[in-house]
Amino acid sequence: MKTYAEYQQLVEGALSSQLASLGEIPEKLYEAMNYSLCAGGKRLRPVLLLAACDTLGGDVETALPFACALEMIHTYSLIHDDLPAMDNDDLRRGRPTNHKVYGEGMAILAGDGLLSAAAELMLRAAVRLGDLRGTRAAEAIMRRAGVTGMVAGQVMDVTGEGTEPTQEKVEYIHLHKTADLLTAPIEAGFLLAGATPEQVEAGCRYGMHLGLAFQMVDDLLDVEGETAVLGKTIGKDAAVGKLTWVAVCGVEQTRADAAQEVARAVEALESIPGNINFLKTLAQTTLGRVQ
Ligand code: IPE
Ligand code: IPE
Ligand code: MG
Ligand code: MG
Ligand code: MG
Repeated sequence: MKTYAEYQQLVEGALSSQLASLGEIPEKLYEAMNYSLCAGGKRLRPVLLLAACDTLGGDVETALPFACALEMIHTYSLIHDDLPAMDNDDLRRGRPTNHKVYGEGMAILAGDGLLSAAAELMLRAAVRLGDLRGTRAAEAIMRRAGVTGMVAGQVMDVTGEGTEPTQEKVEYIHLHKTADLLTAPIEAGFLLAGATPEQVEAGCRYGMHLGLAFQMVDDLLDVEGETAVLGKTIGKDAAVGKLTWVAVCGVEQTRADAAQEVARAVEALESIPGNINFLKTLAQTTLGRVQ
């Protein structure tokens, strides 16, 4: 197993070259895609994918295109999430949002470009692998990013704005807009490593609880984080009536619920063979994150 920083470095080193490997992308489009993709960010999802694969003894190099593709999908979701028609944000990853720099049309296209590049890269990698592992991993990522996954969660987030906050609605939003994209790397990483269905199921439980805790902390950071550290504007959720965990339960309860979700995530790892320390520590550090 490697450290978080080592997995992160592998991802940083591969992102631009994966994109460039697709061929001649129109200059403005490439610039807009690359602006958001290479603007830092924690790289949590691709790191999780590599680490999950590594945990079960899979090959990290083989997993790299899938990890990069997932980060492209996550980045597209952020570009679109920030658009004036959605959350209307000016700051992302400590820099002006994509549409502020390139205009709304190009920001929409940069998102479209990143999503389709991701699918292309994963299918190419799956064809190269030549067995079903890659296809299964690509299917899991696209399903969790898609119309029953992240997109579904974003729909509830956008349509729920300003409506009465209920536990049921917020749970749905957290499960799909965020937890699905944090379960995707575990599911895909395990599938690439040739995991059994039982191991995949346990891994997905870990990802789901981790994802719920992660979004609860995101909601907390919007209340009590620091813009300079977080790299995004705070205080917007309450101002526009977003359905957040904090809006339903308050700050203290959200903190307690996040801790409980982390405990559940760690519990799900019990049946996983291999070195689970990385995944365990990562879940635990989610609670204290400031970025
Ligand atoms: C932000 O994700 C969107 C949420 C689901 C809360 P991250 O907090 O992982 O953002 P980056 O990738 O580090 O910028
Ligand atoms: C974003 O949720 C989730 C996705 C982009 C899919 P938020 O809207 O809470 O994320 P931030 O706070 O803008 O990063
Ligand atoms: Mg949003
Ligand atoms: Mg947002
Ligand atoms: Mg948020």
